[in-house]
Amino acid sequence: MNTTKYIWMDGKFKKWNDSKIHIFTHSLHYGGAVFEGLRVYNTPDGPVIFRLKDHIKRFFYSANAIGIKIPFSQKQMSEDAVKLVKRNKIKSGYLRPIAYYGYGKMGLCPLGAKVNVSMFALGFASYLGGDAIKVGITKFIRIHPNTTDINAKITGHYANSIMASLEVHKAGYDEALFLDYKGNVAEGPGENIFIVKNGVLYTPPSDNILAGFTRDSIITVSKDIGYKVIEKHFKPKDIYNSDEAFFTGTAAEITPIGYLDNKKIGSGTIGPVTKKLKDDYMDVVRGRNSKYRKWLTYVN
Ligand SMILES: Cc1ncc(COP(=O)(O)O)c(C=O)c1O
Repeated sequence: MNTTKYIWMDGKFKKWNDSKIHIFTHSLHYGGAVFEGLRVYNTPDGPVIFRLKDHIKRFFYSANAIGIKIPFSQKQMSEDAVKLVKRNKIKSGYLRPIAYYGYGKMGLCPLGAKVNVSMFALGFASYLGGDAIKVGITKFIRIHPNTTDINAKITGHYANSIMASLEVHKAGYDEALFLDYKGNVAEGPGENIFIVKNGVLYTPPSDNILAGFTRDSIITVSKDIGYKVIEKHFKPKDIYNSDEAFFTGTAAEITPIGYLDNKKIGSGTIGPVTKKLKDDYMDVVRGRNSKYRKWLTYVN
């Protein structure tokens, strides 16, 4: 894997090989850590972190949901995220803040456990590859919205994503798609989904999914271009009958879905609306559209 020189741990920049934690770390045992995933993009004016403020805000929201009190301000975390990218000389990559219950307490209830916070940044390019992917509906349903707080990025939630991913990857698909407990289309293991029918975009509403910032960015950009975007529940058959379908996510960016359960969606390759939105999104994140500069935090 890629390595970098520095990792930020509890407010200090440590060398890669010194960034270790103890086996008694509480969150390792019970899934009670929270994290974020952010992208760093190279622009004509140097690297930027995309939607940094929003991600840091969600990081604190997630922490609060599971009782983790982060001993830093959002401002300091944001400033140190920028320093971390700069110190590691990352031009294009991925940033991962994580907060967790640390060493010194076993037993499920973490009351009184120590809290640790860390951030790493890595060079990183494509997540799902650039082409249209093959998606399979998993037999696992997306975690019920009342199981925990689905708007929080809690590591334990991702057991659901891991099991779905293992199932569909073993069956030859590139990525999984979850239905919710009502049989509606929900989301991918780490992505939101859109379909296009007769030039209109549809995406599931935010009740049973983690409604991501890429989803929000695409809704905003689509409406600004003049597309109609409707947030409503739909079923797998609506995907089979759609003209185009795509995933959105910080890692996945805009990834066209060519096949669902081996049924071809549209042409089976990237469709014209997805292509337009993908190109526009890449212009936004790469600083080529001044209208959305507010989403960019410059590193230099
Ligand atoms: C379950 C889940 N859904 C959707 C997303 C997409 O969110 P975002 O666009 O904020 O990265 C993610 C990634 O964070 C996720 O983990």
